[in-house]
Amino acid sequence: MRVRRAGAGDLDALAALHAAAFQPGWSAADIAALDAVALIEDGAGLILVRTVSGEAEILTVGVRPELRGAGVGGRLVEAALESARADGAEAVFLEVAEDNLAARR
Ligand SMILES: CC(C)(COP(=O)(O)OP(=O)(O)OC[C@H]1O[C@@H](n2cnc3c(N)ncnc32)[C@H](O)[C@@H]1OP(=O)(O)O)[C@@H](O)C(=O)NCCC(=O)NCCS
Repeated sequence: MRVRRAGAGDLDALAALHAAAFQPGWSAADIAALDAVALIEDGAGLILVRTVSGEAEILTVGVRPELRGAGVGGRLVEAALESARADGAEAVFLEVAEDNLAARR
């Protein structure tokens, strides 16, 4: 499986992926403090999802710019939905800018 659940040893890799997708990126400490489930496709992208009281929120999803449009984002979202469902989520939220077509798709 390409997408895997990240652990404490992956925090630097998660921060590097976040910084490649967003400016400013989140530090390893920022990511750890979110206390979210982190899923990673090594070298390609990350997604963070947190489930509370049956509602999950995707806190971030990002793919390296040079690897976009090849299905990584879709795989990350699918894995996050599966994880959230396993944690009891009945609804999942992702806040994105209205003009962020790639994220909305
Ligand atoms: C949003 C993002 C994670 C998508 O990742 P990705 O790997 O490019 O996504 P995929 O290749 O799996 O594509 C997913 C869907 O979006 C569509 N899509 C991808 N890029 C697109 C674009 N620029 N414009 C329109 N549609 C797009 C794909 O065609 C696909 O749709 P389909 O399943 O109907 O064919 C990536 O663009 C990204 O990192 N963006 C910057 C960070 C961001 O804005 N994150 C979201 C807010 S937290």
